[in-house]
Amino acid sequence: MTTPRLFSGMQPSADSLHFGNYAGALIQWIEMQSTHDAVFCVVDLHAITVPQDPQALAATTRKTAAQYIACGIDPQKSTLFVQSHVPAHSELAWILNTVTSFGEASRMTQFKDKSQKQGSDNATVGLFTYPILQAADILLYDATVVPVGEDQRQHIELTRNISERFNQRFGDTFVVPEVKIMDAAAKIYDLQNPESKMSKSGESPQGILWLLDEPAVITKKVKSAVTDTDTDIRFDAENKPGVSNLLTLASLATGKSVPALEKEFQGSGYGNLKSTVAEAVVELLEPIRTTTHELLADPAELDRILAAGASKAEAIADTTLAKVHEAVGLLPRA
Ligand code: TYM
Repeated sequence: MTTPRLFSGMQPSADSLHFGNYAGALIQWIEMQSTHDAVFCVVDLHAITVPQDPQALAATTRKTAAQYIACGIDPQKSTLFVQSHVPAHSELAWILNTVTSFGEASRMTQFKDKSQKQGSDNATVGLFTYPILQAADILLYDATVVPVGEDQRQHIELTRNISERFNQRFGDTFVVPEVKIMDAAAKIYDLQNPESKMSKSGESPQGILWLLDEPAVITKKVKSAVTDTDTDIRFDAENKPGVSNLLTLASLATGKSVPALEKEFQGSGYGNLKSTVAEAVVELLEPIRTTTHELLADPAELDRILAAGASKAEAIADTTLAKVHEAVGLLPRA
């Protein structure tokens, strides 16, 4: 029996990944790399769909890859590479553009949110077709499963629709992938605005826990997290979003279940809960921060790892792309 393949990726759109990226995606990636043939990508072509700093992109791309490794992705076991190093991603995206309807692309809620932020007329066509490039990422690798956070569900659903339609129209070519979302960590919320997801473009810098934050910064952010005027420590996402988010963070960082934590903190006040969250998150992130900086101190070695990953990825991607060309009827180059 062949090992099932997974594909996933993150945008290198900030100097550091944040706790939402870790909880929603990386925890699953690390677990699944021992049961799957895992392919992990730093999706730099996605990161240029919004205004970005060309001076910073190469550095944030390396930093993102270093954080994957520091969190536990093993480049010996898994394939780790940079999206723009494998041209097949852009090429397949073009072909998939031609089987995606304008209507279905228009329904993507992430596009609506992001384009509203920039003023709809200024949003790029690249931002509009972003999910189609994401579909290409996944479909090139015959991935059976895509581990992500809740906010990516709609994009994976679109990938499924595109692949099914392509297969119907041109014959069986793509594996139709399943989404995998971890219930408990599907969505981590902003500490200052616990009704919005923690996001690299979040409005309040105090609300985002970066993986590379110094311990004192993490402690300060957790201690100033918005809660409510009540004193009850219980999980109730609707009425107590701030406290519920802290319970989720505590659970992920300590390994204890949310009900066990509710019991432990019954009647003890928000201050104690925040201290526990701060300590546990610092303990969890400290080795990640240290290892990331060690890896970044040797960029040549990091680039070598990424080049080896790109070669492995390219071999798979080019085979799929050749099948797609044939299915669509493009003339083979002599
Ligand atoms: P990106 O870079 O926004 O996020 C990377 C991963 O982190 C998850 N995530 C969260 N999970 C829980 N709580 C949060 N607050 C939170 N914020 C982010 C995301 O769900 C994601 O899993 N479009 C993708 C990148 C991509 C991709 C792909 C993913 C491109 N091609 C192919 C999977 C497969 C994105 O913007 O992720």
